[in-house]
This record gives sequence, C-alpha cells and structure tokens, in this order.
Amino acid sequence: MVDSIVPENIRTLTAYPPGKPLSELERELGVSSAIKLASNENALGPSPKATRAIANALPELHRYPDGGAFYLRRRLSKHVNVQPNELLLGNGSNEIIELLIRTFCSKDAGVLTSEATFVVYRLVSQAAGVPFEAVPMTDLHFDLDAIAERVTSNTRLIFLCNPNNPTGTKFNQESLDRFLVRIGDDPIVVLDEAYIEYVPQAERVKAMELIAKRPRTVVLRTFSKAYGLAGARIGYGMTSEAIADYVNRVRQPFNVNQLAQVGALAALDDTDHLQQVIELTESGKQKIYAGLESMGMRYTPSWTNFVLFDTFRDGKSLYQAMLKQGVIVRPMNAYGLPSHLRVNMGLNEENDRFLAALKQALNSN
Ligand SMILES: Cc1ncc(COP(=O)(O)O)c(C=O)c1O
Repeated sequence: MVDSIVPENIRTLTAYPPGKPLSELERELGVSSAIKLASNENALGPSPKATRAIANALPELHRYPDGGAFYLRRRLSKHVNVQPNELLLGNGSNEIIELLIRTFCSKDAGVLTSEATFVVYRLVSQAAGVPFEAVPMTDLHFDLDAIAERVTSNTRLIFLCNPNNPTGTKFNQESLDRFLVRIGDDPIVVLDEAYIEYVPQAERVKAMELIAKRPRTVVLRTFSKAYGLAGARIGYGMTSEAIADYVNRVRQPFNVNQLAQVGALAALDDTDHLQQVIELTESGKQKIYAGLESMGMRYTPSWTNFVLFDTFRDGKSLYQAMLKQGVIVRPMNAYGLPSHLRVNMGLNEENDRFLAALKQALNSN
C-alpha cells in the first residue's frame, strides 16, 4: 500500500471524468457505428489544410519541435493582434490552466471560480495543494457579483469561463466591467474563451482591450473546438509580457509538439472551413432545441457547440440507456447537475440519431 505516503490533497483527488471514448463503447457493444456527442468536439473534423500540413511534417518526426514555436507565434500574434512575447502556448489550453496555477498560486494564494464550470480548474488546484473556492451560480450563469464578494487578499487567480462549459451561458461586457472595478487590479483574471468562435463578434466581451488596460489578465483559447484539432493538443493564451515570461520559465521546453504547431498554423488560414463549422453547429443547435422541447426537456440556450438540458429525472440512467443504442452524451453528476445531460452538435444524421435515442430512452425509462 502506498496510501500512507501520498499527501492528503492527492489521496482525495478524483481523476478527470472524460467523455467515454467511441472505441471503448464499440468494444463493449460489439458494434462499429456508435456516435460520440460527449466532448464538445467538432463534427466536421479539422481543416483539410491542417491534415495536409500534419502529413507533410511526418518525415521530420525524429526532430524535437521548435520549442519557441516561432512561426505559429508570429501567425497567432497577427491573428489576435498582440506581440509574440505576449502569447502562451500549451499542450491544450488545459496545460496553460495548469501552468498558471503552478506559476502563480501557493498555499496562501488560491483560485476562485464558479460552481458548475470546467472541472479542470478544481482538479489542478487540488493536485497543486492550492486553496480553491467555487461560488454558486445564479440560474446556470456565472454570478460575477457573488464572486467579487469572495475576493480577498489571498485570491490569486480567478477563472471566468465565457461562454461556460457545461452550461453554455455567458456574461456580457457590462457585467465584466462592473466586476473588474469591484475586484481591483490584484488578482489575475483568466477569461477562458474555449468556445469563443461560436459567439458572434458583437456578442463577445472585448478581451484583447482588457489585456492592454489590465496587465494581470489572461485570455485562453484552444484549437480543440471550432478548429477541430482536439487530438493534436494545442491551446493558446494572450496576456502581458510579464505573465508570459514567468509561465515560460515553468513550462516544459517542448510542450507543444510539432504536428500540433503546423496543424494549428494551417487551420488559422482556412477561414472557409471555420465558417462551415459554425454554420453547421448553428443549424444543428436549432434542430436539437426543437427536438428537446418536443420531448418536454428544458434546455439552456447556448452560445457554444453544445447544449445542456434538464431531463427532470436521473440523467445517468438516461445516459446509460442511450449508450446501449450507441449514442454517447455526457452525464453531469460531476458538475453537480444530476438531472441534466450535455450533448454537442454533430453532423445532421448524428443529431437525428441523438434525438431518436433520447426518445427511446425516455419511453423505456
Ligand atoms: C472551458 C474549457 N476550457 C478548456 C478546455 C480544454 O481544452 P484543450 O485542453 O483541449 O485546449 C475545455 C475542453 O473541454 C473547455 O471546455
């Protein structure tokens, strides 16, 4: 037994519960036609330009990647209009979340966020032995006023997920401005914008202007969602040079692999593909809303590529009944929402299969 030598914060840690992999369900069911709508992935897949760039880079795999990601940094700095040394790159934005906590937090300088948000903020805080507090939501939205009230001199990082996973809701510029006035300049505010590409421009908060005005701000983005590169593992952040410099000291020298770098670079150039993804997602969302409503489910209007809905019964057993039909959605127990399920928009035929499977699961439940 090793229990006695494991620190308390690690012994009580539970591993991140990922969406069930397709291959696992297919093995269990002995079928080959299961569909996965559980991890907010992109139904259309990556841009063909990205897959070509990745294929072209394969013969160089014996080389270490460019640890400074020169070309991607230069391209991204134009894309988001910051200097290359104001960018953070990570093995998924998950890694940047971890790096921020490891770089800036300690047992006296903790993390503050909301309940029912991305669980990785909590898991990494606990693993790092850092104080963590989650403030209740109001009506499945971040309650920024309530979060501001909990800020103390020991609050180091505040994670604001906008739009939020798993609720799909967002806050607006006015609420954010009021929040920032209330909390002052000390805590580092991390705006996690993993789903921002799905939000129309006019509805987004002005995150980049904020970095210029308030240096202790980080904006996180990812290539895993609208850009369809979840398997490549690459995310990025924008911040002040001073914050980027410290994070850079803590990260592994080759944290972003070469295939991810060239794939991301090519994906940024394929704006047509991105547009197709956004349009397919929007039409799928309308169809799923209508289907859920007709079955008496209550959905939360979403700014993302997924929808959270209340089934008014045990979500986990519906989830299991749908698994038997080869449809993987996401139960929400880990987020404290046991009667809810989360589904991401897929291809048209996948959305139809989801609605049919839910109907059947409800009938037999
Ligand atoms: C809100 C949010 N942030 C960050 C991530 C991490 O994404 P990745 O590590 O794939 O970039 C996710 C993934 O589900 C997410 O939903």
